[in-house]
Amino acid sequence: GKCINVGIIGYGTVGSGTVEVLLDNKTTIKRKTGIDINIKSIADLQINKKDDKYLREIPVKTTDAYDIINDPEIDIVVELIGGYNPAKQFIMDSLKNGKHVVTANKALLAVDGLEIFKLADELGLHLGFEGSVGGGIPIIRVIKEDLAANNINEIYGIINGTANYILTKMDLEKKEFDEVLREAQQLGYAEADPTFDVEGIDTAHKITILATLAFNTVIPYEKVFVEGISKIKQVDIDFANRLGCKIKLLAIAKKHENDIEVRVHPTMIPERYILSKVVDVFNAIYLVSDKVDRTIHYGRGAGARPTGSAVAGDIINIARWIESGCKKTIPILGFKDKYTQYYPV
Ligand code: HSE
Repeated sequence: GKCINVGIIGYGTVGSGTVEVLLDNKTTIKRKTGIDINIKSIADLQINKKDDKYLREIPVKTTDAYDIINDPEIDIVVELIGGYNPAKQFIMDSLKNGKHVVTANKALLAVDGLEIFKLADELGLHLGFEGSVGGGIPIIRVIKEDLAANNINEIYGIINGTANYILTKMDLEKKEFDEVLREAQQLGYAEADPTFDVEGIDTAHKITILATLAFNTVIPYEKVFVEGISKIKQVDIDFANRLGCKIKLLAIAKKHENDIEVRVHPTMIPERYILSKVVDVFNAIYLVSDKVDRTIHYGRGAGARPTGSAVAGDIINIARWIESGCKKTIPILGFKDKYTQYYPV
């Protein structure tokens, strides 16, 4: 039968989640698509110290990412190490070697996404990044494809699982900030550097990606206003409750006549709004579009299996495209020559 070879770089939370999803649901995927997704190799610097029943199924285990990037049999390279470098180098080199790429690397895409999109577009290769925003929530594809007939005008997102988990536990269980942060880290929700979660940086990365796609223009990440939740105290939560509100770390992006507004900060949300009910690791993205009107996209915003599900979805989509014999890809942002054009933020 049809077989697509995949190499995964990075066997941490998302890497192991992706492998679990693809192996546990191999039969389901085969039934739905007619395609065998074969995870040929996994690269991880600590691979020799890692062992589980899924890993034992993988033929090639290596500490060198280039064993995957330079392997002529690999169709899709999956980058799940996070951070800027060497992740960027791995992605660029994979594309240059003619491989489709899947990544969940929001920090890299928020800062250097255009350069990467441009290379993928020029080479006619896919770059899947569904796992980069909202964990398991299908939101990238929704904005890029399902809502393509709409002008999306506003985005409101609770898009950091760790921050939402912390705010929820501080509110409902009256726990202290540090204690709940440790819980979120143990559950595999937090970034390697958790200041990205609590200072709103991860949220800013994600809203940059969403706004870039939704408004179809270049959003400069460094211009996004960011304030995190590290200064939120029990007293703030008490006052919010007395006012009938919940405090959420909210990402806001709005299209105005001649500019675009993008900001991230703790926000008091009245309890009559659905976003106030989004608790624990759950995320939600509320879109306002001109034709479909308001839509809300909700689900687990972090964690191995939800994010692994999104990454696996990208892999399957690319595998389908390869199997269908398509030759050309559609530019990721719909334009090839306007990568320098952007609106003031
Ligand atoms: N640290 C991120 C979060 C992981 O907590 O939302 C998912 O991108």
